[in-house]
Amino acid sequence: MKIIIVAGARPNFMKIAPLVHQLRKSDADVTWKLVHTGQHYDYEMSRVFFDDLELPEPDFFLDAGSGTHAEQTARVILAFEKVCIQEKPDWVVVVGDVNSTMACSITAKKMNIQVAHVEAGLRSRDMSMPEEINRMLTDAIADYLFVTEKSGVDNLKREGRKDGDIFFVGNVMIDTLLYHLDQIKKNPEPKENPAAGTINDSPFAVVTLHRPSNVDDRNTLAGILKALVRISADMPVIFPVHPRTRKNIEVFDLEKIVNDSNVQLLPPMPYIEFLSLWKDAFLVLTDSGGLQEETTALGIPCFTIRENTERPVTIEEGTNRLVGTTGEGILSAYEQLKTRGPQRGKVPKYWDGKAAGRILNVLISK
Ligand code: UD1
Repeated sequence: MKIIIVAGARPNFMKIAPLVHQLRKSDADVTWKLVHTGQHYDYEMSRVFFDDLELPEPDFFLDAGSGTHAEQTARVILAFEKVCIQEKPDWVVVVGDVNSTMACSITAKKMNIQVAHVEAGLRSRDMSMPEEINRMLTDAIADYLFVTEKSGVDNLKREGRKDGDIFFVGNVMIDTLLYHLDQIKKNPEPKENPAAGTINDSPFAVVTLHRPSNVDDRNTLAGILKALVRISADMPVIFPVHPRTRKNIEVFDLEKIVNDSNVQLLPPMPYIEFLSLWKDAFLVLTDSGGLQEETTALGIPCFTIRENTERPVTIEEGTNRLVGTTGEGILSAYEQLKTRGPQRGKVPKYWDGKAAGRILNVLISK
């Protein structure tokens, strides 16, 4: 059996890592190749993750780069078709919900190659999110649907997918998290961390922000930054800034809001450096999908700066809370957290570090 594994953007790399490591260990009759579409290409968004996550050089780098959605998607499709023609894989494995996920699924399926989608079934029901369109298109055509939480199974069944195509296997990103947490505990030498001078042993908050709906609109971004400045009067706020957000802070001339505050704007961080930081945070504020799940896995309070989430288990069982996208919403949730204290959560089913093994067992047994 021949498998192609696809990754394109930062949140994909931690999801493919445990699959790659399982394949390396496997003595099954499987060959595999790794494709990096090049959707993310900056050193801080890509290369450093390959190093941290002990990923091999990709066999193919498609150099898709940025651009409009059509441009980026089209470049991935054109380049990935050539890979499929050359390699003739039995399976293409895609992860997550980025443009590369959808583009490679469509390319493979039209060539009658079987597609497995890891992290299938998540739905925000918000069609203004490019990721929601990518999820729905990918799940509509993928042969095997590997699901992280029960809501994913329910969504797929509601959309008419057969029981036999759906596999509730858990969360590969949590495989990566638990592995690296263990590594950090085994090698506790403090790594040089750009935030180290600020945080000491006192409480601190960590922020990530990159969704177009939050960062492409001046008023929305300004409101969020003002709320962060208010929180930073109580504790340092460490904010590694995504390139898209950095660009907009400059274009909208918003740096002055955070100047002279305890909000620290930093470059994007490598995986291990970032994990070493946020694992000890008092509070994480984010619009990322991944961090909603990672904070739930470690029981850290998370404010999700969105109106909806495709990951409801993080709210129903975990430590996540939807706070909306206004400064007022963020601050009222923050005041409640201060007066009532953090809510307890539990770790969702199968978020146990063994999801990649379950996925490969299914693929190999077919
Ligand atoms: C993409 C994903 C999103 C994911 C996010 C994680 C889609 C539709 N979106 O969003 O789901 O949560 O990645 O980061 O696939 N840029 C750089 N260097 C890079 C990559 C991007 O400077 O290495 C800048 C470019 O100016 C680019 C902008 O960031 O225009 C956006 O990049 P893009 O890949 O289009 O989307 P993201 O916002 O990163």
